Amino acid sequence: MIELTSVSEMRAWSRAQRRAGRRIGCVPTMGYLHEGHLRLVDRARRAADVVAMSVFVNPLQFGPQEDLARYPRDLARDRAGAAGRGVDCLFVPSVDAMYPVPARVTVDPGTLADHLCGPHRPGHFRGVLTVVAKLLHVIEPDVAVFGRKDAQQAQMIRRMVADLDFAVEIDVAPTVRERDGLALSSRNVYLSPAERRAAAAIPQALAAGHEAFRAGARRAAEIVQAVAAVLARTTALAPEYVEAVDPDALAPMDPVDGGTLLAVAARAGATRLIDNVILGEGLAGDPVVDG
Ligand SMILES: Nc1ncnc2c1ncn2[C@@H]1O[C@H](COP(=O)(O)OP(=O)(O)OP(=O)(O)O)[C@@H](O)[C@H]1O
Ligand SMILES: [Mg+2]
Repeated sequence: MIELTSVSEMRAWSRAQRRAGRRIGCVPTMGYLHEGHLRLVDRARRAADVVAMSVFVNPLQFGPQEDLARYPRDLARDRAGAAGRGVDCLFVPSVDAMYPVPARVTVDPGTLADHLCGPHRPGHFRGVLTVVAKLLHVIEPDVAVFGRKDAQQAQMIRRMVADLDFAVEIDVAPTVRERDGLALSSRNVYLSPAERRAAAAIPQALAAGHEAFRAGARRAAEIVQAVAAVLARTTALAPEYVEAVDPDALAPMDPVDGGTLLAVAARAGATRLIDNVILGEGLAGDPVVDG
């Protein structure tokens, strides 16, 4: 595995791969890798000949009150994890390498940021789309892989690529979960043992929403109520939102159907957790890891 830190070297590597006739898969991350990230690598490997992974904690997507300074980092471990999974190129740019001057022009998520996490994290998705646009332009992959845990982000990236004619295929992978259903996330490392136990109520609540749908509920309020009832049992969780939205427009949907995206954000102490399910699919099909 080769490790690169400059934009020019990264682009040169990609162009050499392209000249050699190889398809390039790309997996953008903020590092502190877990099995969820590594499953994205597996998918990129299946869809391409070589895989580039980026590890970059993007300041542009953190709000002033958010956890940029204490975001977990362990490059040595990430290096080993990525190499062990067959990543060919690890791109680890500094903030200066990505933003030699402060960005003036950024990518606006439009109405896709009007619901779910958008109102709770002003500017976050502008930061995400801007850095993903930059990474796609630097790496020029044939396919880029993202996780469904971040469903709003994945949908925005799909639409950015479609609406702005990026020449890349977007693949969205299922959410990898712990045995008790908690979605893997780098930020789970912040959780105290009590918070970690409480966090399992989030997938349980989504499963209750899915169950209500299977039992025939179609009004959004009924589904949301089924989710909220489970979350309310755990005082260690403070729900931020429970919403049933159209998977394309990410706007509230009522009545719901089998394609509706049911999404939750909740705080366990200072840690903000998100998760979601497609109502017709449920969590049952999501891959589980030991943990
Ligand atoms: N449990 C998971 N299953 C599948 N994909 C995941 C999972 N967690 C993260 N991803 C995906 O990995 C990519 C990089 O995400 P990121 O580096 O922000 O990790 P993260 O675990 O979401 O960290 P954090 O919770 O701190 O944001 C994104 O496409 C994200 O959707
Ligand atoms: Mg994330």
